[in-house]
Amino acid sequence: MIWGFFYSLEQARVFIGTIAIHSLKKLTMKFDLRLLIASVMIFGAGSTMANGEATYKQVCMACHGAGVAGAPKVGDKAKWAPLIKEGQVHITSDGYFGVRAMPAKGGKPDLSVEQFASAVVYMANQSGAAWVDPDAKTLALINEKIEKRQKKLAKK
Ligand code: HEC
Repeated sequence: MIWGFFYSLEQARVFIGTIAIHSLKKLTMKFDLRLLIASVMIFGAGSTMANGEATYKQVCMACHGAGVAGAPKVGDKAKWAPLIKEGQVHITSDGYFGVRAMPAKGGKPDLSVEQFASAVVYMANQSGAAWVDPDAKTLALINEKIEKRQKKLAKK
């Protein structure tokens, strides 16, 4: 990695410079790296947690907030119960692909499957489910379903 490279440059410098300066630099470098990792972790966790809700509010709430055009209204447990029963993989791939009056990707073409899935988790959990953001395996199943539907469409 790049840090390893810098570290060896530092080591090379030891032969020229003094040991005292070297260890001081090494210390700050280690600190920087730790700070970097910590901030990436905090930022990463924070953003996935907030993502579903943010995407919902930005993209999905327009229809799913009030139940426009027959969209299952968030919080309407009776409407969501059968969807929750169909399962996360099923309704996430359906919604992402588009189903009847539900536009593909909620009408936002640059929305990733992950972002869409998080929004579905948020909506379902407001309506009686206890889902979590899909792990790699679930995500693969969702992607597989979307691809199958796209292939089917291409054949027509
Ligand atoms: C333009 C309005 C509209 C927007 C925007 C919209 N939806 Fe929908 N959605 C619908 C409608 C209408 C349905 C019901 C479709 C049906 O079953 O006939 C639906 C159904 C769904 C379903 C159930 C799919 C199934 O298998 O029956 C999911 C999941 C879903 N939407 C997720 C989302 C997410 C996530 C977003 C935002 C990223 C979003 N929707 C944005 C209108 C919308």
